Amino acid sequence: MSQPKRYLVTSALPYANGLKHIGHLAGAYIPADIYVRYLRSQKRDVVFVCGSDEHGTAIPIQAMKEGTTAQAIIDKYHQAMKEDFADLNISFDVYHRTSDPLHHETSREFFTYLHDRGELETKETEQFFDEGSQTFLADRFIKGTCPKCKSDRAFGDQCETCGSALSPDELINPVSTISGQAPVKKKTTHWYLPLAKHEEFLRSWILDQHKDDWRPSVVGQCKSWIDGGLQSRAVTRDLNWGVQVPLKDAEGKVLYVWFDAPIGYISATKQWALDNNKDWEPYWKDADTQLVHFIGKDNIVFHCIIFPVMLKLHGNILPANVPANEFLNLEGDKMSTSRNWKLEMRDFITDFVKKENGGDQCVDMLRYYLTQIAPESKDSEFTWKGFQDAVNSELVSIFGNYVNRTFVLMHKLCHGKVPKFHADVADDLDAQLVNDIQAAKARIEQSLENYKFREALFDVIDLSRKGNKYMQDKQPWIVAKTLAEKPEDQKLIDNCMHHCLQLMANLAIMINPFLPSTARKMCYMMKVVDRMLDWENAGSIKLLSMGYSMREPQLLFRKIEDEEIAAQVEKLKAGAALAQQAEVVAAEPAAPQNDLKAEIVFDDFGKIDLRTGIILSAQKVPKADKLLQLEVDLGFEKRTILSGIAMHFQPEEVVGKQVVVVANLAPRKMRGIDSNGMILMAEDANGKLHFVQPENAIAGGLKVS
Ligand code: MF3
Ligand code: ZN
Repeated sequence: MSQPKRYLVTSALPYANGLKHIGHLAGAYIPADIYVRYLRSQKRDVVFVCGSDEHGTAIPIQAMKEGTTAQAIIDKYHQAMKEDFADLNISFDVYHRTSDPLHHETSREFFTYLHDRGELETKETEQFFDEGSQTFLADRFIKGTCPKCKSDRAFGDQCETCGSALSPDELINPVSTISGQAPVKKKTTHWYLPLAKHEEFLRSWILDQHKDDWRPSVVGQCKSWIDGGLQSRAVTRDLNWGVQVPLKDAEGKVLYVWFDAPIGYISATKQWALDNNKDWEPYWKDADTQLVHFIGKDNIVFHCIIFPVMLKLHGNILPANVPANEFLNLEGDKMSTSRNWKLEMRDFITDFVKKENGGDQCVDMLRYYLTQIAPESKDSEFTWKGFQDAVNSELVSIFGNYVNRTFVLMHKLCHGKVPKFHADVADDLDAQLVNDIQAAKARIEQSLENYKFREALFDVIDLSRKGNKYMQDKQPWIVAKTLAEKPEDQKLIDNCMHHCLQLMANLAIMINPFLPSTARKMCYMMKVVDRMLDWENAGSIKLLSMGYSMREPQLLFRKIEDEEIAAQVEKLKAGAALAQQAEVVAAEPAAPQNDLKAEIVFDDFGKIDLRTGIILSAQKVPKADKLLQLEVDLGFEKRTILSGIAMHFQPEEVVGKQVVVVANLAPRKMRGIDSNGMILMAEDANGKLHFVQPENAIAGGLKVS
C-alpha cells in the first residue's frame, strides 16, 4: 500500500463535565500523541484535533450538582482540560469546543444535508414531560424508587444503589428532578438514522475489508452490533441544551450529543485551517487522507458504525483505523467518579509535575508508565508500586543509566569530545551493535504504524539495555588502566565510546515520540539541534561527528521514593473513604442543633441586605491556610470577598458556584486585602461546609429576604 498523502488524527472529545483521569489519558490521548509525534518526525502532513464535548444531558446535570449554570460548567472544564493536556505535553494542533458557533453551524449543515436527501426518518413516540418546567425529561432527570432494590435513589437510566440499568417506565413513583412533580406522558417527534439500511455497507467495510488490520476487539464489538440487528437511532432530543435542530416545527429540540460531537472533529479541523491559513477540505474529503480515531472501548459503536454511516452519506472519507483501548483499572479496582476511586490528570500534575522536584521529567515518567501498561488488548491496571518500578528499574536504571554512563565516560576517557572511529580495530561486537540499532528502528516503525505502542516502547528500552551490555562487554574503564603500557589501546576505548555516543543519539530519536521532553534534554546535553530528532536520522551511526564536544550530563529521571507512593495510596484511600462518608451524610442529614442565638426583632433582620451572587474566580491567599480570595459577581458590581473555606474547597471547585452574600457588611481588611461582604455556608455535624445556594441558576444581585 502506498503512503497516505496526509493524516487526520483525532482523540475522543472529552465531556466538559469534570476533570479527566489517567484512564482517559492512557486510552485516547497518549497513544494518539505518540502516533502524531512519530508522523511529524517523519515530516508527514498530519493534523491532530481534539476539543471539549459540551453538549448532552451530562452538562446540565453537572450544573445541577454544582449549583450553577451549564455555561459556567463548560467554561470551567473546557479551560481546565485544555490546561491539563498542555501540561502533559499532548500536542494537539487545535483544541476546539462544541459550543463554538463554527461547530453549531457545521453540525446543522450536516444534519440538513442528510435530512434534505431523505436519509433520516421521523417517528412519533411518547415521552415523560414535566408540566412544572414545561420540558421533556431526559432519563437522568427522572427520579424514583428502584423496582429491583426499592432504594429511592434510582434514576430513569440507572439505580445508584444497586447499579441496575433502568428505563424511566420501570421507576416506582417517578418524579421530575427539576420540579419535583410527577411527570406525564406526552407525544413527541424525533428524527432517526435508519442504520439497517446500511448493514451491507458496514458488513463489507468492517467485517471484510478491515477484519485483519483493525484490532480484534474492535471488529468483534462491531460484529456483535451488526449481528444483533441494527436499529434506527434517534439523532435529536427534547432538551434545551445543545445544537438547535435546523428545521421549522422543531422548537425545543436539539441534535443528540452523539450526533454532533463527532462532527466536532470536522469543526476543529476547520478552526485549525482558519487559524493556519490552510484548506480543511482535503482532510475530510480526499481519499488520500488517512483518518484515525483514538478512543476508549465505550466509544466503539459511535466511531465504527454510526459516525461512518453519517460520513458516508455526507460524502466524506471513512476512518482507516479506530485503535480503541480497553479500560485501565486503579489499585485493584475499576475507576469510579462516584466512589472517588480515580487518579485525575490534575492530581498527578499538582503532586508531581508542579512540585519543585518534578517538572517535565515527571510528565515523561507518567507517559512512560501509561504506555508500558497501555490497555491495548485487554484491561490493565495502574498501581503506584508499578509506577515506581517502571521509573526506578527501567527509566532510571536502564535508559537513564545508559545515557549517564556514556556521558561520564566520554568526559573521563575522551576529554568530553566524540572520539574517532578506528576501522582497523573494529570487532564483531561493534558490528552487532550497529545491527541492533537498525533492527530496533525497523521494528519500532512497524509497531508504530500498526498502533502497537507498548511493543514499540519496549524496543526502545531494550535497545538501551543492549547498549549497557555492549559497554559492559567492552569495559573501557578497565582498558584505560593499562594505557601506560599499551597506548595503542586508546583506539579500543575510542571505538567503544564512539559507538555508545552514536547509540545515544539514536535513542534520543527513538524515544522522542514517547518522551518528548527527555529527547529534547538529550539534544541539549549533546549540543545538537532538535532537528537531529527527525526520524530519517535513526539507524545512522554518523549522527555525532568526530571531535564534537558536549555538555556535562544531567540526570534524565529521578527516582520515585517509597514515601511518595505510600502517600499516594493513602490519599486514594482517604478520598474514597470521604466519598463514602459524604454518601452517608447525604442519606442521613446531621441532627439539627438546638442552640439558637438570642431572639431578635424584625428590624434587626431588616438591616441585613442579602443578595445572590456567582463566584467568578477563586485563589488561595498566601500565608493564610483558611482563606480563599473570591471574586463575586453581584450583577450590579463585582466584589472581592475573603472566605474561610480554604480547608474545605479547592479554588477550582468553587468557581461558578451560586451563593448568598451578606452584601452590606462593613469591609474588613485581612492579610492586606479588603473583604467586602460574606458568603453564607452551612456547617454539618461533621464540621463539613456546604454551600447555601439557589435551587436553580438565577441572576446575581437578586434580593434574598
Ligand atoms: N464525550 C465522549 C466521551 O467522553 C466522547 C465523544 S467522542 C466524539 O465518552 F466523537 F463524539 F467526539
Ligand atoms: Zn436499585
